Amino acid sequence: MNGDPAAEGTLAPSDPYLPELMEVVSVTQQTSDVKSVRARFLDPDRQRDFRFRVGQFGIWSRFGAGESVFNLCGSSTWHDRLEFCFRRVGKVTDAFWGVQPGEVIGFRGPYGNSYPVQEWEGRDLVFVAGGIAMPPVRCAIWYCLEHRERFGEITVVYGARSVADLVFADELDQWAAHPRTRVVKTVDPGGRTPDWDGLEGFVPTVLAEAGVGGADTSALVVGPPVMIKYSLPVLMEAGLAPNRIHSSLENRMKCGIGRCGRCNVGGTYLCKQGPVYSFEEIMAMPADM
Ligand SMILES: Cc1cc2nc3c(=O)[nH]c(=O)nc-3n(C[C@H](O)[C@H](O)[C@H](O)COP(=O)(O)OP(=O)(O)OC[C@H]3O[C@@H](n4cnc5c(N)ncnc54)[C@H](O)[C@@H]3O)c2cc1C
Ligand code: FES
Repeated sequence: MNGDPAAEGTLAPSDPYLPELMEVVSVTQQTSDVKSVRARFLDPDRQRDFRFRVGQFGIWSRFGAGESVFNLCGSSTWHDRLEFCFRRVGKVTDAFWGVQPGEVIGFRGPYGNSYPVQEWEGRDLVFVAGGIAMPPVRCAIWYCLEHRERFGEITVVYGARSVADLVFADELDQWAAHPRTRVVKTVDPGGRTPDWDGLEGFVPTVLAEAGVGGADTSALVVGPPVMIKYSLPVLMEAGLAPNRIHSSLENRMKCGIGRCGRCNVGGTYLCKQGPVYSFEEIMAMPADM
C-alpha cells in the first residue's frame, strides 16, 4: 500500500512484544462513551524520530488491564505526540477510561498498511465516516489538509445517531475553513438538537445529495456495516471504481505482527496486509468477513 515516504525508517524496539512507555499529555471526553488521548514517548529522542503512515494502528496497553488496538488518529505530520480515540466497550477500554494526564501507558507499533495518499494526489477526495469511525478517517483528513495543494476538492460527509454522538465535533468547522474543502455533517432522523446547524438524514442519503463523484475522485469510507452497505452503491453510481474506494477494517487482533493467526480473513492477515483495503479487495474476501 502506498504511504508517506517520510515514514520509512522508524526504528521499532528489538522485542516486538515489549511496549514502549508513553506519558499521557491530555484526555478529552468526546461523547458519553468515547474519549481521545494525546500521548508522547517518555524518551524524547524516540518522540522526535518516530514516524508512521496515516491508516496505521497501535497496540496500546493500560498496565494491569491489557492491550487494545486503536488507530493512530492524528496526522503523521504531527511529530510532538500520538493520538488515539476509543469507545468504552469492555475490560481494557474500561481501564483506559480512567487514564489521566501524567500517567504512563504502553505502546507497540506502528502496525499495518496505510491509506494510498500518493495515489490520491491530484484527485478529488470524499471522506465518509459514521459515528465512532471518525478517528481512522480523521488522520487522513488532517494529513490531506496539511498537504492541501496536493489534492483536488475535498468533501467530508460525517454522520452520527445524534448530535451528542459526534466525535471531534469541534474540528469540523476547522476543516471546512480550508480552501476547496466542504464538510457535510448530519444526524439520523430524530437526532438533532434545537441549535443543530447540520443536516438530518442518514449518511448514504446525504452522500447521494452531496454531488460528489466522477472518475477523478477517490473515497475513504469507514463506519457501521449498514452505512457502508448503502454508501458504496452511491459512490459507484457517482463513477468511482471499487479500487478507488478504500476502507479500514476491524477484526479481532492479538499480536499485530502476523504471528498469532488471530486476524486472518481467507488468505490475508488484517494486521499485516490490512487494515486498509480497497472495495475491490474487500468484495473478493470470503463472505463471512
Ligand atoms: C485495526 C483496528 C483498529 C481499531 N481502532 C479502534 C479505535 O480507533 N478506537 C476504538 O475504540 N476501537 C478500535 N478498535 C477496536 C478495539 O480494538 C476494541 O474495541 C477493543 O480492543 C476492545 O477491548 P476491551 O478489552 O475494552 O473489550 P473486550 O472486553 O475485549 O470486548 C468488549 C466488546 O467489544 C467487542 N470487541 C472487542 N474487540 C473488537 C474488535 N476488534 N472489533 C469489534 N468488536 C470488538 C467484543 O466482542 C465485546 O462485545 C480497533 C480494532 C482494530 C482491529
Ligand atoms: S493479530 Fe496476530 S497475526 Fe494478525
